[in-house]
Amino acid sequence: MERYSKNLRPCLSQLKPYVAGKGYTEITRKYGIPQERIVKLGSNENPYGPSPKVIEALRSISSERYPETEVLMEGLARYTGYPEESIVVGTGMDGVMDTLTRIFLDRGDRVFIPTPTFSYYEILTVMSGGQPIFKERLDGYDVPTDVPRDVKMAFICSPNNPTGNQTSENDIIRVVESTDGIVFLDEAYVEFADKSLLGLVKEYDNLVVGRTTSKAFGLAGLRLGYAVAPEWIAEQYRRAAPPFFGLSCASVAAGVAAMKDLDFMHQSVSKILSERERLTRKLNARPSQGNFLYLETKAASGSVADSMMGKGVIIRDCRPFRGAGDHHIRVTVGTPEQNDSFLEAYEEICA
Ligand SMILES: Cc1ncc(COP(=O)(O)O)c(C=O)c1O
Repeated sequence: MERYSKNLRPCLSQLKPYVAGKGYTEITRKYGIPQERIVKLGSNENPYGPSPKVIEALRSISSERYPETEVLMEGLARYTGYPEESIVVGTGMDGVMDTLTRIFLDRGDRVFIPTPTFSYYEILTVMSGGQPIFKERLDGYDVPTDVPRDVKMAFICSPNNPTGNQTSENDIIRVVESTDGIVFLDEAYVEFADKSLLGLVKEYDNLVVGRTTSKAFGLAGLRLGYAVAPEWIAEQYRRAAPPFFGLSCASVAAGVAAMKDLDFMHQSVSKILSERERLTRKLNARPSQGNFLYLETKAASGSVADSMMGKGVIIRDCRPFRGAGDHHIRVTVGTPEQNDSFLEAYEEICA
């Protein structure tokens, strides 16, 4: 093995594998709980799924053909209000960020990452040979706006996963104006928030706003993300992106149909918002602008998460989020019934 493992890139040794939310299969195998009794609130998915128009569109895809993206780009242009020349797509927002880091980051490049936040930014930075510069978020999880010198990129998540707060327009402007680096504003959860800062892309040549269909549109399993970028960045992106941007006929057909049925998305968001309010009140939780709550636990988060899973309720233990410590969990807002099951188990375990 050693004969061949010397070929591995040394940066790999800095990383632990990304820890995703637990799935049905693992819980069924570990605790013998059948899937229909499991309440899955660990991955910030949308329990209402996609529009019925998406399901219909998926029935007529030509699986033997490579995908064509023109109509999808038109739909995203309508939805975002930006021209197609400013829009890039990828295999989830993860795929979009992967291509972006490949066009900007080289060995030793510094990348600003305020923590705790989505862990994939760190993985992408390290795998590009870059050096993450972590700074803890301030009180209320605000982003520190004194951007470290000479950063090539900054990753700002808003609403932030896992803490749920949004970064103010003033703070984003401060970050964008105080650096020559590229600022990636991750708006994966923005449809659940009061405000989007997408309009700022028109004003700044170093701001890219990432979006996804995984959350509000209920398409997590189809892996379709996009970003709105200044045209000069979108042009370079197209040089480095994988063939067909890493999309499939299924993700394209689903995206096209989803963009034609915004009513469905708005209805599912509004159901989630009213449940978010109910859960926030009931748990006296810190306010969230995403489809999830960030909760401080008295007991260690690992043991809370394990006990919850034993009762068939999957939530996220936040320990793998750098800087979140070991007393926080994150729970996705589900349907009223799912949230009731969560509340019942949580009250029993944390009473
Ligand atoms: C903040 C944030 N950004 C990006 C992603 C990835 O989104 P996608 O499913 O589009 O790859 C997630 C997924 O949970 C996320 O929480």
